[in-house]
Amino acid sequence: MNTKVSITCTLLFLCCTLANAQAGYGSTTDSGYGSALLALSSRATKLPLPPAPAPAPEPTPEYVNLTDLLSVAGPFSTFLHYLESTKLIETLQTQANDTEEGITLFVPKDTAFSNLKKPSLSNLTSDQLKQLCLFHALPHYYSLSDFKNLSGSGPINTLAGGTYTLNFTDDSGTIHIGSGWTNTLVSSSVHAKDPVAIYQVNKVLLPEAIFGTDIPPPAPAPAPVAVPDVAPVADGPDADGGKGKGKGVGSDTAARSSTPSSSYRFTGWMKVVMVVVCSGLVVVL
Ligand SMILES: *[C@@H]1O[C@H](CO)[C@@H](O)[C@H](O)[C@H]1NC(C)=O
Ligand SMILES: *[C@@H]1O[C@H](CO)[C@@H](O)[C@H](O)[C@H]1NC(C)=O
Ligand SMILES: *[C@@H]1O[C@H](CO)[C@@H](O)[C@H](O)[C@H]1NC(C)=O
Ligand SMILES: *[C@@H]1O[C@H](CO)[C@@H](O)[C@H](O)[C@H]1NC(C)=O
Ligand SMILES: *[C@@H]1O[C@H](CO)[C@@H](O)[C@H](O)[C@H]1NC(C)=O
Repeated sequence: MNTKVSITCTLLFLCCTLANAQAGYGSTTDSGYGSALLALSSRATKLPLPPAPAPAPEPTPEYVNLTDLLSVAGPFSTFLHYLESTKLIETLQTQANDTEEGITLFVPKDTAFSNLKKPSLSNLTSDQLKQLCLFHALPHYYSLSDFKNLSGSGPINTLAGGTYTLNFTDDSGTIHIGSGWTNTLVSSSVHAKDPVAIYQVNKVLLPEAIFGTDIPPPAPAPAPVAVPDVAPVADGPDADGGKGKGKGVGSDTAARSSTPSSSYRFTGWMKVVMVVVCSGLVVVL
């Protein structure tokens, strides 16, 4: 094998790759591979070809399976059980599939149901139970930062319709939810990517429309320790149960970005350079 030819070709590859890289390695990774491969195969068929790069993953359609999401996060099994036994999970999934409007779901953890002593859910009719579940959903996608807008704009309609409304108050990033019977807050974000928002709440939301307006005054409780309690989780089930790592509110824009980072692309063309240099050395030696 002629050494000069080898060196020339190696230099050619490097030029090719670097030229492509400089043209903007953001979008030309594939063509960088392409031209390097082309030069390689026209040069010597004996050299082992680098493995073909895997095609970049297609942007997945905005489909979120609510059952899947609720079964891995939380634990939300009580709420999910109610949704499945009432078949409302299909209603909610239809709303979630509507990419125009989307859905915002407030999901109480299992402990919120087990801590609920009075009033009890056990003697609700099946229609009341359905309304209670739908009371936890808004027929529109709201990111955490959207609640600043909803704050103080009066009662917001839920999927239960009619007089089943919720009040929202944004207290410097902490979102308080009021139903008359229930005052609670969004304790973590399980999923917040248009069109599906799922937020964990500390209490079951009890509507006045079922339990009446004769609301007992809250029992004097020991003052809770003020801990930053809102930790939005970027696109994915909340693994630590939303204990709150104080990541700050409004970072759900990070969840919207699904493009690979530039460092990933960088290592892509670096690999091409490495392969080319190595095969060049093998030939020279
Ligand atoms: C959603 O997930 C559940 C549980 O994994 C599964 O039974 C159901 O078929 C899924 N629905 C769709 C439409 O993929
Ligand atoms: C939601 O969309 C998925 C994927 O397009 C589909 O499989 C599912 O049947 C839809 N579910 C409902 C309740 O519309
Ligand atoms: C459930 O039972 C309690 C008493 O045990 C009663 O005060 C309440 O009105 C009942 N609720 C419904 C919705 O029937
Ligand atoms: C949100 O704010 C925009 C302007 O900033 C306003 O036009 C819109 O009506 C507000 N939405 C709600 C629900 O308050
Ligand atoms: C919601 O806020 C309105 C005032 O904007 C108030 O009249 C109403 O009682 C509140 N409802 C609940 C359930 O807190």
